[in-house]
Amino acid sequence: MKKTVTTFAKAKQSGEKLTMLTAYDYSTAKLMDESGVDAILVGDSLGNVILGYDSTVAVTMEDMIHHGAAVARGAKEAMVVVDMPFMSYQTSVYDALVNAGRLMKEANAGAVKLEGGESVCEVIKAITQAGIPVMAHLGLTPQSVNAFGGFKVQCKDELSAKKLVKDALAVQEAGAFAVVLECVPAKLAEYVTSILDIPTIGIGAGAGCDGQVLVYQDMLGMFSDYTPKFVKKYADAGTFMRQAFTDYINETKSGAFPSEEHCFKIDEDVMEKVME
Ligand code: KIV
Ligand code: NA
Repeated sequence: MKKTVTTFAKAKQSGEKLTMLTAYDYSTAKLMDESGVDAILVGDSLGNVILGYDSTVAVTMEDMIHHGAAVARGAKEAMVVVDMPFMSYQTSVYDALVNAGRLMKEANAGAVKLEGGESVCEVIKAITQAGIPVMAHLGLTPQSVNAFGGFKVQCKDELSAKKLVKDALAVQEAGAFAVVLECVPAKLAEYVTSILDIPTIGIGAGAGCDGQVLVYQDMLGMFSDYTPKFVKKYADAGTFMRQAFTDYINETKSGAFPSEEHCFKIDEDVMEKVME
């Protein structure tokens, strides 16, 4: 059965942990879906891991629609959450509505995600009221990297920790069905989780959250540009892939590949006529 906002609400009540992974293409989404993940996030992290930018600010609506639609075709049961890219929701409530609508209509998103607290509550409210579920995103919000002055843990001092609590309550009040907490001290994330009625999904926010999310290239060991402290490597797929690529190159050079089992046959008499 297709997972929805109801799945998230029920998990918050029952205490069952929610799982989310990022994906950007059909075949990866299909593998994750078959594994039983609750939600697949088409993150704007695609700017980093797919497109090779050094931040997410250059990611466009067209990028998100292109990859979102591919993931949605592979996700039979998992809820597909698509990130709203930088400047697709900050300019006006109208722009935000139009762009959230495009992600649902053109990419088949089950929900959209956007970064920010009180400052984006008007936007969250409008999108939610239009019938598009919104996942909020607080703590380290990578689209604001230029304002933060780099990627680092957030909300460690009293002022910013209190701001996180206020923002979390505000996005819930505005209608968000869940909130991602990124790079937030574990104790603070646990406290926020305890006071919210909507589930928190942590990344670098400890085990006290209602669920977890990881970028798949990070958790598979496929992305080596940098590895944040919160990443657990569940596989070393990077080494595995590099080995397979090398084997293929060596076997092709030596003539070991392709062997007879990988070749198509033609009748001898046909061949004889061809060579006459
Ligand atoms: O873009 C992304 O992958 C994200 C997750 C890190 C939450 O926003
Ligand atoms: Na993102």
